[in-house]
Amino acid sequence: MNRREFLQGSAILLAAGGLPLKLWAADERFRLRAAPGTSNLVGAEYGDTGVWSYNGQIPGPVLRYRQGDTLEVMVENALPQPTTVHWHGIRLPHAMDGVPHLTQPPIEPGETFTYRFPLPDAGTYWYHPHAASSEQLGRGLSGVLIVEEPEPYPVDRELIWLLDDWRLNPDASIRDDFGHRHDESHAGRIGNTVTINGRLPRDVELHPGERLRLRLVNGANARVFQLDFGELAPWVIATDGHPVEPWQPDNGRIVLGPSMRADLLLDVPPDTRQAFTLVDDFYPQRAYELVTLTFTGGPQRSVSNGAIPRLPANPLPEPDLEHATEHEILLTGGAMGGMHEAYLDGKLLSMRELVQAGRFWALNGIAAHGHHMEPLLTLELDASYRIRLVNDTAWPHPMHLHGHAFRVLRRNGEPLGHEEWRDSVLLNARETAEIALVADNPGDWMFHCHVLEHQESGMMGIVRVA
Ligand code: C2O
Ligand code: CU
Repeated sequence: MNRREFLQGSAILLAAGGLPLKLWAADERFRLRAAPGTSNLVGAEYGDTGVWSYNGQIPGPVLRYRQGDTLEVMVENALPQPTTVHWHGIRLPHAMDGVPHLTQPPIEPGETFTYRFPLPDAGTYWYHPHAASSEQLGRGLSGVLIVEEPEPYPVDRELIWLLDDWRLNPDASIRDDFGHRHDESHAGRIGNTVTINGRLPRDVELHPGERLRLRLVNGANARVFQLDFGELAPWVIATDGHPVEPWQPDNGRIVLGPSMRADLLLDVPPDTRQAFTLVDDFYPQRAYELVTLTFTGGPQRSVSNGAIPRLPANPLPEPDLEHATEHEILLTGGAMGGMHEAYLDGKLLSMRELVQAGRFWALNGIAAHGHHMEPLLTLELDASYRIRLVNDTAWPHPMHLHGHAFRVLRRNGEPLGHEEWRDSVLLNARETAEIALVADNPGDWMFHCHVLEHQESGMMGIVRVA
């Protein structure tokens, strides 16, 4: 298939609720303008919501490239405050990682910055600011970045769902209580309105018998999603962008912490007629119906019924588990957490003093402040590591490492029953996980909780690869 055919194929893809996604191909510099605007999130009865958006769209445009392409995006800042763009999950050169002060100066209002880097891995990624993250993402700045495999994966149709949640006032305006201490010390800024691709979900039409690829992205500040696909029995074909040996969660549930992605393969049964409602029940007391799937039309199967093909592997370095050096990172703090003290800017402070300084969380006993700090770990370039993450808190934390992908080996000491490559791993309260990676990308990389209010109140550190 040549590029033209490829683009024509892409142009018919529709997202949830028939929202056409703007598509983009490489070979040309793309402009992304971050600016205040409006968007109708919750339907005509409520009018528009004042948001911050990329190119006037919520979510931002879907950026679509092919593996090996070079992304070139000029970001223009028309916001009333500094920003950056972080390309979440992409293994890129340090200077392009979009972390203010650490990898680049912040893009000041009225200024531009051009990001340019090759895309080594295929998969489902996303982009978002890394400055004042709680507010900038909470007001709407984020978008999906897709890197296509060299050969199209055989499905009838592809859907992209960027899940997000918003904290809205009764008039549909965004509540501006960013930096709220209760959010910071508890579960983060959980919203009261969940959207798919920036709209209250309407029914999504599926066709009996079709094979679908569903690209899921959790773009929420703090909400964890647990989607119950029930008898639709999805196959997981990629985690955080990276292909894995296809596996089926036994209860049909897909769990996604903030920032995490899953590529699912869904075989719609050929004889289904009855609508099916997807429930999110991560918070059992607050389970709700996310979206209803309806089944219409005749069978539209164009690909083979056979086994679930594995996506071609990305060129990830395989960690040498036997000779890997071991480390541990301990997560402490938060409400009901029992943290007594932690270092802040080199000084040991009591919990009371930390709270006064707006710091609620620590990694290995250090509460972060800003994006500049001494490294939590220093890793030798190209060496293998096994890192045990210990969540000694009462809250879930999706822990994200920049610049690398890692393998998740164990949870609570038990080996995983399936393959998982990730850039973010969700640790539930009191859980541990063991990850392994090759530190093959030089630089000072952020390692932080992707509950943005936790990140901003201390749960952040640097992993140095040198
Ligand atoms: Cu999604 Cu440090 O980022
Ligand atoms: Cu957290």
